[in-house]
Amino acid sequence: MYDYRITAADKRTLYADLLAALDGLTSGEPDGIANMANAAALIWETLPDLNWAGFYRNVGGELVLGPFHGRPACIRIPFGRGVCGTAAATLEVQRVDDVHAFPGHIACDSASESELVVPIVRGGQLLAVLDLDSPNKARFDAADEAGCLRLCELLASRI
Ligand code: SME
Repeated sequence: MYDYRITAADKRTLYADLLAALDGLTSGEPDGIANMANAAALIWETLPDLNWAGFYRNVGGELVLGPFHGRPACIRIPFGRGVCGTAAATLEVQRVDDVHAFPGHIACDSASESELVVPIVRGGQLLAVLDLDSPNKARFDAADEAGCLRLCELLASRI
C-alpha cells in the first residue's frame, strides 16, 4: 500500500504535491488502466468536496467508463454529448459551475452540481478524459483547472 496523504494550505501547493505523488505512483508502470486506477484513488483521497472522480477512455471514437471512485456511472458517452462528450469533441477543458445549466448534461449522480472535465491528449489524439464532479456549485476554479491540466499532461505519457 502507498501512503500519499496530502494536505496543503493553498491550492498551488496542493496540486504541486498531487503532481509529484502521481508522478511517483505511475512512474515506470506501463499499464494505463492501472495508472488511471491509482490516479483516480489519489485524486479522490486528496481533493475535497468531490462525489465522483475518474476517467472515460476514448474507445473507437466513443467514451467508455474507466477507473473511478464514486457512484456507479453511465458506461458509454458519445462524443459531443454532455460535459464529458463536449470535452472529447472539442479537446477543450469544460469547467461547469452549474451542471443543471449545461445543455445535454448527463446526470449520472443527482448529487452533482458542478463539474470539471479535462481531455488527455497525446500527439493530437484523445486518449481519455478526467472527470471530476462535486456536490457543491462552482466547486472548481482556475487553480483547479490549471492543476488538473498538469496532472493530465503527465497522464498523457502514462496511460
Ligand atoms: N455528468 C457527465 C457524465 C459523467 S458522470 O458525471 C460520471 C457528463 O455530462 O458528461
